[in-house]
Amino acid sequence: MTANDLRKKYLEFFRRNGHAVIRSAPLIPENDPTVLFTTAGMHPLVPYLLGEKHPQGVRLTDCQKCMRTGDIDEVGDPVHLTFFEMLGNWSLGDYFKKESIAWSFEFLTSKECLGLDLDRLAFTVFAGDEDAPFDEEAFQQWRLHGVPEERIAKLPKKDNWWGPAGETGPCGPDTEIFYWTGPLPAPRVFEPSDKRWVEIWNNVFMQYFKNAEGKFEPLKQKNVDTGMGVERVTAVLQGKSSCYDTELFAPLFRRLDEIRGLAEAPAERVRSERVVVEHIRASVFLLADGVQPGNVDQAYVLRRLIRRAIREGRKLGIKELFTARMAEVVIDQYGEVYPELPAGRENILESLNREEHQFAEALERGTREFEKLLSRVPAHIQNKVLSGKNAFHLYETYGFPIELTVEMAKEAGFTVDMKGYQEAYEKHQALSRQGAEQKFKGGLADHSEATAQLHTATHLLHKALRLVLGDHVAQKGSNITAERLRFDFSHPDKMTPEQLAKVEQIVNEVIASDVPVICQEMAIEDARNSGAIGLFGDKYGERVKVYSIGDFSKEICGGPHASHSGELGHFRILKEESSSRGVRRIKAVLEK
Ligand code: SER
Repeated sequence: MTANDLRKKYLEFFRRNGHAVIRSAPLIPENDPTVLFTTAGMHPLVPYLLGEKHPQGVRLTDCQKCMRTGDIDEVGDPVHLTFFEMLGNWSLGDYFKKESIAWSFEFLTSKECLGLDLDRLAFTVFAGDEDAPFDEEAFQQWRLHGVPEERIAKLPKKDNWWGPAGETGPCGPDTEIFYWTGPLPAPRVFEPSDKRWVEIWNNVFMQYFKNAEGKFEPLKQKNVDTGMGVERVTAVLQGKSSCYDTELFAPLFRRLDEIRGLAEAPAERVRSERVVVEHIRASVFLLADGVQPGNVDQAYVLRRLIRRAIREGRKLGIKELFTARMAEVVIDQYGEVYPELPAGRENILESLNREEHQFAEALERGTREFEKLLSRVPAHIQNKVLSGKNAFHLYETYGFPIELTVEMAKEAGFTVDMKGYQEAYEKHQALSRQGAEQKFKGGLADHSEATAQLHTATHLLHKALRLVLGDHVAQKGSNITAERLRFDFSHPDKMTPEQLAKVEQIVNEVIASDVPVICQEMAIEDARNSGAIGLFGDKYGERVKVYSIGDFSKEICGGPHASHSGELGHFRILKEESSSRGVRRIKAVLEK
């Protein structure tokens, strides 16, 4: 059975049983700033698991894109992935344990579905502790379907409890389903520690809410949340010990062979090959959901994935640009299930090319520098350490993510002084913050009319840049005098004359339409939810001012501002130049 068959059969089975098939939510959680990525199918459904009404009903099923980066360094072995797909079905206060278990049983064992032999299945249920009792009901339900007692293990919270996904949230006991992958017949007694029993499905019975004090309160609405990892189950069903050996990765490996000029596939895949295909696959999905490589949060994870893939590609002897060629395979392969991939094709390929181009050169120079740094440490020294200062230098000058430096150092028998790195990093941050604050003060202390108008013009420019270049444009710095504005923003390339003209034109149109500039004070969360852009740093405190210019722009700012856009006169860009790596700078004036 292929992954495509599995997806189809699963969704179809639950649709037949009254579930609405919903689309996968993006990989970036829309309303949860506590985590970087969607880590499970239940994650985007949290509000509904807590009682909000879902527009598509109380029974849902989907195939959700997920990303878990906790084991990113393990990727390369035969089992670990960062990106994966999770099939799931949910009851939002509707059915509970009896139906959930009955459907799981039917889907796994019936001939029309997976047709698995019951003799190769085993189950775990929650044993009970001071927070919640033994899950007798789940145990009895499996027994009713003919599962022998010795195939149902009772395990503690560390094994049979799921959630919450963040610090607080819905959670509860779960029952996990295992499949025997060893020689037949399967042992009569289920030993959960025997790795040949592989977990294939997890049914969570959400009965509790873990609150901020760590207490488990009963949930008003009892839910079911189940999860089945597509890659893992596909491998298990095909009798493969690694998901890298399934058709999900085969076309990617083939393209990699092509790029390397191999006439024949190697007998066995090695670590570097797995890292390349896994990381490129994950990067394509992140790019399709709007993430761009950068230095913080999701953007940094993406950058790490791409740069690590490039480095492993070099180890395989690839000299030319190759990530976009690999990405094409992912887009074609998954386009039908995830239309955002083909829709974002151009942007995905372009971003990869850009990042690869930027990094490829730095990688060579940086590696030489790295080797020079290591060679200064005499060979006879026992515990070889790369200083934090040097590790930071590699980050700052060559764009080496610290994790990459650590990995390279390890390969050469070195460790990295992480504390020293942290210190160097923070010292640098503090210095640039100080610089920014001073510039900020300079601008804000001056309340003249001209500065106020340039503040307003800066908001217009910021928004126009996002419209013309894309949402990756974010403010990196701003400095305003009575004569001109200077605005730094994230964008990898030099702007074209057409782009600059377009930005000018948009700004001047908003000026000509003479819309009011309105200031509202609100809580920072409300500002964020209202879609305001700007710096969400803590320097603003809890309440912030949000300036709206007609319905064109909404941005957090301390002010001062013009009262109408019409006051601004004619906006003209004087210069567009590089400010630092990945950051552009525009100087502009208002002409009366
Ligand atoms: N949330 C559970 C899991 O991730 C079941 O979907 O395993």
